[in-house]
Amino acid sequence: MEAIDPEKLAAIGAFYEDAQFLSPGISTEIGITDNTDGKHAPKGFFGVKAPYYLSIYSEKKDRYMMNAGCIMEQISLYMLTLGIASCFLGNVSYRDAKQRGDKEFIIVLAFGKPDGPLTRRSVDARRLAVQDLCIFKEDPRRWTQDIIEVARLAPSAFNAQPWRFVVLANRIHFFSKKRDIDRMGRWDEFDFGCLFAHILVTADELWLDLDLIRLENISQKNFRSSQYVLSAIIKAE
Ligand SMILES: Cc1cc2nc3c(=O)[nH]c(=O)nc-3n(C[C@H](O)[C@H](O)[C@H](O)COP(=O)(O)O)c2cc1C
Repeated sequence: MEAIDPEKLAAIGAFYEDAQFLSPGISTEIGITDNTDGKHAPKGFFGVKAPYYLSIYSEKKDRYMMNAGCIMEQISLYMLTLGIASCFLGNVSYRDAKQRGDKEFIIVLAFGKPDGPLTRRSVDARRLAVQDLCIFKEDPRRWTQDIIEVARLAPSAFNAQPWRFVVLANRIHFFSKKRDIDRMGRWDEFDFGCLFAHILVTADELWLDLDLIRLENISQKNFRSSQYVLSAIIKAE
């Protein structure tokens, strides 16, 4: 419950302004609630006690949940670089702040100095193995393997990992596991946003010229147990 330097809090706000948006046409807003006195925690189930809570609000447009997930996971990764730990809280909210103008409340990210180690080894994260996630149509290039690994480690609500990957040498197609007849689960779209945040950050780190796009020829196909979402395509290494 320790306070964080005001400069770090300001840096988080500045980072948000520069974060990569999946859909630049969707207007969003964030707000940080100071709970260092323990009196300003949001209400709901599965809450986590933390000194700060960051909320995001978004206009409700096509793919707005994916866009919000992408922004929030970039913020969470950025916090890590500042030595700050964080946890999404999908079931809590502020009763008096469900709306900000035309924007709707989406999710809260609890954050603060970690009460223990900030990171763990990736093998200690509970995630599906590559062979359970991917169908390999061609031998992947090295960058393709790097992208699969960071995508695999993305967080998801209840750790559901609602995704499957179809891998070619220079591209990966991302599919959502169908849960209902043809609808995604409540948080699936947000989870995919987290996954694409990992990919965008990694592409930047590796200096890869990578596009995340929806391919019309695939989106028109019907699949029994999965739904096409997007493809990551490398243009040049
Ligand atoms: C949309 C979303 C909602 C989440 N909601 C909660 C929550 O309410 N409470 C909680 O403790 N964790 C929540 N989490 C964290 C996930 O449970 C966690 O990321 C996942 O189980 C994987 O665990 P790890 O990130 O520690 O590896 C949420 C994650 C996401 C992406």
